[in-house]
Amino acid sequence: AGLSRRRLLLTGVGLVVAGVLPRTARAQAEAQRLIASPGRAQVAPAGYPQTEVWAYDGVVPGPTLRLRQGERLDLVVENRLEEPTTIHWHGIRLPNEMDGVAHLTQAPIQPGESFHYSFDCPDAGTFWYHPHFRSFEQVERGLAGALIVEEAEPPQVDRDLLWVLDDWRLTEEAAIAEDFGAFHDISHAGRLGNSATINGRSPEPLAVRPGERLRLRLVNVANARVFGLNFEGHAPSIIAWDGQPVAPHGLPDGRLMLGPGMRADLIIDMTGGPNETFAVTDSFYPNQTYRLVDIAYEAEVVREESLGAVPSLPANPVAEPDLEAAERHDLIFAGGMMGGMTGAELDGRQVSPRELMQHGLAWTVNGVAAHDHDHRPMLSLDLGRSYVLTLRNDTAWPHPIHLHGHVFRVLSRNGRPTPHGEWQDTVLLMPQEEVEIAFVADNPGDWMLHCHILEHQLGGMSGVLRVA
Ligand code: C2O
Ligand code: CU
Repeated sequence: AGLSRRRLLLTGVGLVVAGVLPRTARAQAEAQRLIASPGRAQVAPAGYPQTEVWAYDGVVPGPTLRLRQGERLDLVVENRLEEPTTIHWHGIRLPNEMDGVAHLTQAPIQPGESFHYSFDCPDAGTFWYHPHFRSFEQVERGLAGALIVEEAEPPQVDRDLLWVLDDWRLTEEAAIAEDFGAFHDISHAGRLGNSATINGRSPEPLAVRPGERLRLRLVNVANARVFGLNFEGHAPSIIAWDGQPVAPHGLPDGRLMLGPGMRADLIIDMTGGPNETFAVTDSFYPNQTYRLVDIAYEAEVVREESLGAVPSLPANPVAEPDLEAAERHDLIFAGGMMGGMTGAELDGRQVSPRELMQHGLAWTVNGVAAHDHDHRPMLSLDLGRSYVLTLRNDTAWPHPIHLHGHVFRVLSRNGRPTPHGEWQDTVLLMPQEEVEIAFVADNPGDWMLHCHILEHQLGGMSGVLRVA
């Protein structure tokens, strides 16, 4: 591994060497441009035509934005689409007016117009960006990219790799099926596709060398697909969830569960031998296990000796919630097919499930179904105060619940304390699961809390927390 580190803020997705060479001072980033426009990409396997997509800077996923912890992201986003858009910086603790939520934190960026995003990145980690305007369609068409904030001293690894995982619903001609926001998808598992991609392409074998230590950053940008990944023959360690460091530990039950919006950083020691091949399989949905990608060993052995313990990442400057003094609230997620919902509040009045459905809605949070544009706060939090929220999934479906502007500790699942108390910004609730999260409401503003299955968000599973 002797590649020199690129000094540009914008780099292509793929291989970047970290922790191997001494760092060069990085030029202070000037405001660069990021252009959202229609484009074409080879999303389907070779032999299929290219797919018409919507892309950032013409590529899918968008360019990987890289900067160092504490640096400022300064980016002018230009909208060359035929409809409005915005960018949300998923997982970054930033000022509310930079959060990119259309109609809540900013006016949508109209076609032909641009918006200057400028904010500091306080936490190192693996983050991502995507529109927050009709995201069920815009993200599905390809608007998503990774944002990597590097630690001052990254752990020593041979290679630092990024896998942006996506799932596309393509026609026979490799066009994106245009049934965005179909009610069946809204009321069931969301828009599951038929073509998984890694970094926007049909997965090709990952070439590795015996003895290598990899850092693998996974980002799930799919609208709806939860990935449940097993790394055959390997024992990855999780070192971060959603960009936030966690004490290194193995995969619970041998699987990495990554809901839409979630990220994980893994350290994987390549313990296979020369020319061996292993599968990475996805087995989240019952009876739908498939081989996502192969790990293909080359002949050349990198090192014989063991690398020893997996390094921990340095903590990010996140305030620890005071659990004793914390105020408690429940958030109950209900609805969907087989949910047995009896009614809901919509625009301030009670409606039947049938009427809810006629509005294209299927889900509620604490009994309220929110339109995409309904941004009345469901909870008001005192700035600086600690909160424990009990999130209860009263439905038959998994839901990755995302909170903007903050990260939270996951305290317990179904009453059992989590072994690692991980910090996350998106937590996967399995059907009928109850999860307690805790955080300090230290970032003022109106912040979205919603299911990151984008069809569920569209279908009412969304709300606003006001911190003031
Ligand atoms: Cu990644 Cu409100 O979204
Ligand atoms: Cu959901």
